[in-house]
Amino acid sequence: MYKWLRTLLFLFPPETVHRFSMSLLGLFSAKGFTRNLLRRRFSLHDPVLARSFAGLSFKNAVGLAAGFDKNAKYLQSLEVLGYGFVEVGTVTPVAQQGNPGPRLFRLKKDEALINRMGFNNDGVDRVAERLKKWQEKNPAHVRGRMVIGGNIGKNKITPNEDAWKDYETCFLKLFAYVDYFVVNVSSPNTPGLRELQEKESLRKILTCLQRTRPQQEKPKPILLKIAPDLDFKQIDEVLSLSMEIRLSGLVVCNTTVSRQGLITADDQLKRIGAGGLSGRPLRQRSTELVDYISRATQNQIPIIASGGIFNGRDAMEKINAGASLFQVWTGFIYEGPAIVKKILRAQINFNRAEADTAAVSERSR
Ligand SMILES: Cc1cc2nc3c(=O)[nH]c(=O)nc-3n(C[C@H](O)[C@H](O)[C@H](O)COP(=O)(O)O)c2cc1C
Repeated sequence: MYKWLRTLLFLFPPETVHRFSMSLLGLFSAKGFTRNLLRRRFSLHDPVLARSFAGLSFKNAVGLAAGFDKNAKYLQSLEVLGYGFVEVGTVTPVAQQGNPGPRLFRLKKDEALINRMGFNNDGVDRVAERLKKWQEKNPAHVRGRMVIGGNIGKNKITPNEDAWKDYETCFLKLFAYVDYFVVNVSSPNTPGLRELQEKESLRKILTCLQRTRPQQEKPKPILLKIAPDLDFKQIDEVLSLSMEIRLSGLVVCNTTVSRQGLITADDQLKRIGAGGLSGRPLRQRSTELVDYISRATQNQIPIIASGGIFNGRDAMEKINAGASLFQVWTGFIYEGPAIVKKILRAQINFNRAEADTAAVSERSR
């Protein structure tokens, strides 16, 4: 069914489709009757799916990666679709338009996207306002509520020496309204941003955030999102810092600037130009990084995996490599709104199969 709809939707520019379909879904999710219909169709609740991560409880391990709901506008719809958590942002202190369009492209043959959005967002004050309203409707103590992450960044015009101030501003303004934070220094679409992944720049930003928190508030988990284009030496530096300052976790990984192994023709890629590649072609590199990091740290740094997850098999691959939770983005576009339920069903079947195998080996002892 979604394959048909997708053929139609893919006739239109990706950003237009994104806005149109999420607005439509928003209308259906706002009304009690249609909301319940959608919930019944798309979400799946089972206590075996619950996870804990960095001291937080998640109803399931499937999250929506940053950049999909940059401005916290679609939370109701995403909750109806069954997501265990949603990472809003990347949010910057001041609203910015991002790069000129077109800036989002589909590589259909590769089941991938290339984007150079450039942190287009409404600014931290408006996003905080929306999150406040969401929180009033869904207080923290409600069981089974969707966890909200706040992905924070710096404005394009802020020089790298002052970047820490932008992260601190977003951190303080979102503190009351999100459950965890992700420091984004790994987007390829803000000039110079990835230089902040260098150890001392990172130390400055992360330790400043760890020390900063509104008075009388408990600390909130702070994670770092890394680029897949770091080499292993750079990753080792990030890991040693993460262990040293006891970071709550890593999000592995952001989009890649690599174009290796794509089926899409070179001239089409040239026409598209610069941007971060996501989707199927990122799957293997992302899994390799999750595997490397969990081995190198002996699972001491919790990982949220992101990159090329389209189905239950991809999700299990990330879990087996050492991730605790995972996020989808491009998979949502290619597989449709049922992606969460499909992954969760696969997880339940996998759990059952594991339990059966354990029971058989117990009996045969
Ligand atoms: C259009 C688009 C916008 C994105 N914006 C952000 C962003 O603002 N911040 C961020 O940390 N990641 C952003 N990402 C990266 C995703 O969060 C995710 O890490 C990446 O796409 C890999 O996952 P996927 O292969 O499932 O898409 C964006 C990705 C896409 C496709």
